[in-house]
Amino acid sequence: MKRPIAQFAATGRGIPERVMTNHDFASIGIETSDEWIVERTGIRERHIAAPGETTCTMAAAAARQAMERAGVHAGDLDMIVLSTATTDRLLPSTAVDLQAELGATRAAAFDISAACAGFIYGTSVAEAMIAAGSAETVLVVGAERMSSIIDWTDRATCVLFGDGAGAAIVRPAKQGRGILGSFIRSDGALANLLYRPAGGAAHPFDEQVLNDRSFYVKMAGREVFKHAVRSMAEACDRALDAAKLTSADIDLLIPHQANVRIIEATAKHANMPMDKVYVNVDRYGNTSSASIPIALDEAIETGRVQEGSTVLLVGFGAGFTWGSMVVRF
Ligand code: ACO
Repeated sequence: MKRPIAQFAATGRGIPERVMTNHDFASIGIETSDEWIVERTGIRERHIAAPGETTCTMAAAAARQAMERAGVHAGDLDMIVLSTATTDRLLPSTAVDLQAELGATRAAAFDISAACAGFIYGTSVAEAMIAAGSAETVLVVGAERMSSIIDWTDRATCVLFGDGAGAAIVRPAKQGRGILGSFIRSDGALANLLYRPAGGAAHPFDEQVLNDRSFYVKMAGREVFKHAVRSMAEACDRALDAAKLTSADIDLLIPHQANVRIIEATAKHANMPMDKVYVNVDRYGNTSSASIPIALDEAIETGRVQEGSTVLLVGFGAGFTWGSMVVRF
């Protein structure tokens, strides 16, 4: 087994109060049903940010909770790595807004764009910076205001997503606890199966973009589903191999929460019974890069992850990007 370099010192989450249930779609004129959504995805409700609640404010709430639990002050942070697909402004990064909000004056802050696998990517960056001796205390955040970028007239996507943030303090490993193995990968040849076609620098926002709604998320649902199942299975195997462990050594699998059928297929491949799999997609929908840290934080809070637990984190998202991590707590 690999000697860990970095560990999660503490986690936190920032969740909007406002809840939207599957039944609420009728009130905005979406032709769908609770039955369709639950059967296809397992989602029953999701949190939706109120006006004024931004990617940065949700990230700050999650960060403050993680920092308080870790006994870390803003001035202790060497680095802030914020994963998001929903930057509050196109320039500068939301990470620097978060830095200012926290008063983390010593930190280097930057965003990363790796969609639903972003928390795994961000934690891998934190681990590498700690290994290189470039940082000691890193704040890793996954924060998303998905409600700003989904097309609320497209029933095939708008029912799937939710808003929220999760955060972790990553520090040098102690007493054999920490990241035992990890894996990240992407395949840009498949980018157009899940993307926002316009509104960026290649096709800046104009009247055409406004009219054809091409700044919203477009997704080939079935294709994404197939790739998600395949890639999350591969990612589980690769992180376990890197840690030189098998699924029998894992106490809890925490997969990205996009769809309960993807989660079940991943668990089946990894040979993990569903009572060893954390599922909260029913209450949050898909919160992209926030989903894994929110689930991890809940699992720690409810005692499903305890000192000595070995946990497998696995994510997949737009890009496509995917990744996994075995962590001993
Ligand atoms: N309510 C009712 N009917 C709907 C809805 C809705 N919200 N959305 C689509 N339908 C209809 C379609 O119009 C279609 O009708 P038709 O046959 O008359 O044309 C029918 O339902 C079937 O549509 P499909 O898209 O084929 O349904 P499918 O069984 O593939 O389920 C879903 C769709 C849930 C999106 C599924 O493909 C999926 O979960 N894919 C993965 C997508 C995902 O999770 N993406 C998140 C980002 S990546 C990640 O995080 C893993």
